[in-house]
Amino acid sequence: MGIALVLSQVFQNALYSRVKEEIVLKNGTDAFMAWENPPPPVYMQFYFFNVTNSDEVLKGDRPAVFEVGPYTYREFRPMERVSFSENGTRVSAVNPKSYVFDANMSIGPEDDLIRTVNIPAVTVMEMFKDKVIIRNIISALMKSKNEGLFMTRTVGEILWGYEDPLLKDLTRFEKTLDPHFGLFYKMNATDDGEYEFFTGKANYKDFARVAEWKGNSSLEWWSSDQCNMINGTNGASFHPIITKDESLFMFSSDLCRSIYAQYEKDLSVRGIPAYRFVPPSAVFANVSVNPANTGFCVPAGKCLASGLLNVSVCKQGAPIIMSSPHFYQADEKFVLDIFGMRPKKEYHETALDINPLTGILLRAAKRLQVNVYVEKIPVFSQTGNVQTLVFPVMYLNESVTIDEESAKKLRAVVTEGNVIVNIPFGLIGLGILLGVVFMVLMCWQRGPESTAAERQPLLSSS
Ligand SMILES: *[C@@H]1O[C@H](CO)[C@@H](O)[C@H](O)[C@H]1NC(C)=O
Ligand SMILES: *[C@@H]1O[C@H](CO)[C@@H](O)[C@H](O)[C@H]1NC(C)=O
Ligand SMILES: *[C@@H]1O[C@H](CO)[C@@H](O)[C@H](O)[C@H]1NC(C)=O
Ligand SMILES: *[C@@H]1O[C@H](CO)[C@@H](O)[C@H](O)[C@H]1NC(C)=O
Ligand SMILES: *[C@@H]1O[C@H](CO)[C@@H](O)[C@H](O)[C@H]1NC(C)=O
Ligand SMILES: *[C@@H]1O[C@H](CO)[C@@H](O)[C@H](O)[C@H]1NC(C)=O
Ligand SMILES: *[C@@H]1O[C@H](CO)[C@@H](O)[C@H](O)[C@H]1NC(C)=O
Ligand SMILES: *[C@@H]1O[C@H](CO)[C@@H](O)[C@H](O)[C@H]1NC(C)=O
Repeated sequence: MGIALVLSQVFQNALYSRVKEEIVLKNGTDAFMAWENPPPPVYMQFYFFNVTNSDEVLKGDRPAVFEVGPYTYREFRPMERVSFSENGTRVSAVNPKSYVFDANMSIGPEDDLIRTVNIPAVTVMEMFKDKVIIRNIISALMKSKNEGLFMTRTVGEILWGYEDPLLKDLTRFEKTLDPHFGLFYKMNATDDGEYEFFTGKANYKDFARVAEWKGNSSLEWWSSDQCNMINGTNGASFHPIITKDESLFMFSSDLCRSIYAQYEKDLSVRGIPAYRFVPPSAVFANVSVNPANTGFCVPAGKCLASGLLNVSVCKQGAPIIMSSPHFYQADEKFVLDIFGMRPKKEYHETALDINPLTGILLRAAKRLQVNVYVEKIPVFSQTGNVQTLVFPVMYLNESVTIDEESAKKLRAVVTEGNVIVNIPFGLIGLGILLGVVFMVLMCWQRGPESTAAERQPLLSSS
């Protein structure tokens, strides 16, 4: 009977259907509460590349940078304005994120100074290099304000924004420009539009998957707005019963594309079994290695080397290029171009550790680097003799690890699951044990007679 149960997987299937039933977004379920207000703390950590030889770089030397960080923010990301569709298959919500500085987990205060590329200046120089009148105005303004290719600004200014004097003066000539600049300008405590998620009621594989964003559904690139690619889940939930051979899609509005991750190995987080998923190197490969990446050549036909993504259109035209930290998995050229780049898998890869039975994220780190495309623009003497470079500004590590209280609950669920799945093996074991007992009893009963019968002739012959 045990063998029959093992082969038919009755108990495993019963467990799976219970998990599928429990893990849906429905008012009152644990899965819903964890989705609405994730209990484990999420940290956003920033590491800046402080330029040490800016004068030499202008003469054409290789830049040397010194990594400083982390500057750590605790991230709060509750689901708000939650409302279920009538038949319970979808739920809509907004997901505002706020960032609160955590001095104890940071190397210094938010007003530490960082020397880096003058991103607003590089942006307007690139934007208007072919427009004679405005480019002369820019050049004159930069000279009068003593601004060059590099700037020294505080961590808080570079991240959350400041009024840039050059941009401010330029708005008199170009009304469309915003005088503020910041990599995360206006991103604190604001949401990025309304999402509609599948609840998982109709199909467990859709649990918490983004169905629509800002009223648009899409599985492909959004032709009108390439930044709004929608795919995969948003946040900390994946569907339950994850197998080793599937690809997990992640949606990220700041990455400007969805990336996928594949199984790498088994491990355990706080005593809970996990699969580690990482983006395969094909995700970052250049077009000649992975033709599927043609869609990420922006503008069309202009493809960058392995490991780089042009997100200029998503950043108001600023020449921003994303990569993995320290150009991990990118073309080696970029590592060699900058003194101070040391890519290392364990520190610089994006990784997700997921409990396969429940799909709950046990630990994750999303790591991304922000770079600026810098080149010599002959009409601007401010660019000197600089080499053409993908210049690293900073990288971030957005990470989360399951809290002990949730881990305790999950350990109980996993243990219970193991017990249920192992019932048939228990039955087989019990069967074997009973068989052994039975045989021992038989031998014990008949044993003495047969030995006596065997030994008798021997005894009589001697
Ligand atoms: C969930 O149920 C509670 C109490 O029954 C109610 O106050 C709340 O508004 C419901 N939430 C949603 C999103 O329907
Ligand atoms: C539930 O409603 C959505 C629209 O809100 C519809 O697309 C879907 O087919 C419905 N599903 C069921 C099972 O009725
Ligand atoms: C973000 O907003 C929250 C609350 O609105 C505030 O406490 C926090 O200091 C802000 N963070 C930054 C970096 O401005
Ligand atoms: C970065 O470099 C600048 C100029 O060399 C220096 O003033 C500043 O203290 C450095 N910042 C940090 C955080 O070390
Ligand atoms: C989006 O996700 C679906 C299913 O999760 C997948 O079939 C599809 O290929 C993905 N599309 C892209 C462009 O990644
Ligand atoms: C990045 O994209 C922008 C806009 O699509 C384009 O103008 C720029 O030339 C691209 N940069 C590189 C380095 O390809
Ligand atoms: C693409 O990447 C491969 C492997 O890294 C390299 O050999 C090849 O030269 C690259 N091609 C282009 C066009 O950059
Ligand atoms: C995030 O990644 C950085 C770089 O590898 C590492 O130093 C840091 O410890 C990580 N943070 C957390 C909370 O794991």
